[in-house]
Amino acid sequence: SPTIDSIDGEVAIRKPEYVPCGIKEPSQGIRKLIKSLDLAKHQEGGYFKETDRSPFYMENPYYPGHNRGTEDEPLRLGKSTEPVLPHPEDAQKKITPHRNTSTLIHYLLTCDAYMGRLHKNHSRIIHILQRGRGQYVLVYPDGTIKSFVVGFDVEKGEVTQWVVPGEVYKASFLLPLNGEPSADDHLLISEVVVPGFEFDDHRFMRSYEELKALVGDRAEELKWLLEA
Ligand code: GUN
Repeated sequence: SPTIDSIDGEVAIRKPEYVPCGIKEPSQGIRKLIKSLDLAKHQEGGYFKETDRSPFYMENPYYPGHNRGTEDEPLRLGKSTEPVLPHPEDAQKKITPHRNTSTLIHYLLTCDAYMGRLHKNHSRIIHILQRGRGQYVLVYPDGTIKSFVVGFDVEKGEVTQWVVPGEVYKASFLLPLNGEPSADDHLLISEVVVPGFEFDDHRFMRSYEELKALVGDRAEELKWLLEA
């Protein structure tokens, strides 16, 4: 399946073993890749570079009073019918009335930066696999957990394109390419977001309590996804 809509259930979620295996430094090939693509460490974990920001502008759908693109409906979370109220910390954020139409990034996980910690964005994000293999964990506003492997073995159900809906928490982590953890392991993807990325739209999961409120007893199993 090109997107994750038809994925039911989940792939088991196990913390990768790069630290216990003493694999701390990416291989020379991966270091070269980081350099060639001019990637920097991302605060989510992993490495990234913004490779395109549209020079065209659009109305910011998240600006107060603007249409969020859902036929004049206020943004609603999951199955809840309650309109979303901003978190007090989010209410401090500067929100501009216009946005770049789109942005594009490279995002890379490596053995020394093997996970992207749980965060969400107002907008849906299109992900396209470029190289390597990894796993995604999504936590929906109603507490549903989805987990799937991204990789080129499509016959085994791995996906090469996936779209994470807006307001859904996501975390990602590296999977070994050849069974055992190696300094050569990597997951290189492209991400496209419309409207273009701004920190205003982005939020890390704040605490274990927030995770617990969403997923209940499964918070214990997922808590390592809070720390990059
Ligand atoms: N700057 C910091 N994080 C990001 C991101 O995830 N995407 C883009 N486009 N820019 C960023």
